[in-house]
Amino acid sequence: MLTFKKEKAKKLNSNFGYMFETGFFGTRAPFFMDLVTLIVSLLPFLVAVAIYFAKDKRYKIHAYLQIAIFAFSVIVLFYFEYGVRVIGGFDTFMQNSGVSHNYAFIVLIFHIVISVITLIIWSTAIFAAKKLIMLKRHKNMGLITFTGVSLTSLTGIWVYFLMFIF
Ligand code: HEM
Repeated sequence: MLTFKKEKAKKLNSNFGYMFETGFFGTRAPFFMDLVTLIVSLLPFLVAVAIYFAKDKRYKIHAYLQIAIFAFSVIVLFYFEYGVRVIGGFDTFMQNSGVSHNYAFIVLIFHIVISVITLIIWSTAIFAAKKLIMLKRHKNMGLITFTGVSLTSLTGIWVYFLMFIF
């Protein structure tokens, strides 16, 4: 049983080993961090495109795009969490940073608070879309979501700089 588990862990490691090799931005970050940061920095633009379809009254495309972007983001979040857990988390990333641990930690908490609030508002904007449209609150909720996604993106890039560039 134990050998079986070890074999499985080995196979998993060799399948996902690429995640922990040097990334493509030429910084100290591993590959998965570069990939996730790139996707997160593009998210506000993707959401803006989806909102544009609503402005253009093409509501079906607007809805499908919003659902697709949200689902994709949740998958990316799991991929990110897996990578961070395997590597050992924030403290491991901070080992080679020239920035004070406390300062980076405060920025990280700020980023986490904004991203969790955004995730809750974003899922409400999607799962309660029909109800919010009837109440004429959907547009407002959508714009708050867009602001949240943009702030999540900016604070995420900020954390990336503190851990892997400075
Ligand atoms: C399945 C999910 C969704 C459906 C079915 C849907 C549907 C609609 C519909 C029918 C409208 C026009 C009616 C109105 O303005 O109240 C609209 C507008 C809008 N939606 Fe969504 N939506 C969805 C998700 C989202 C999400 C997640 C966001 C935010 C990121 C968003 C942002 C907006 C915005 C900002 C407008 C107003 C556009 C304008 O200026 O006219 N929507 N949506």
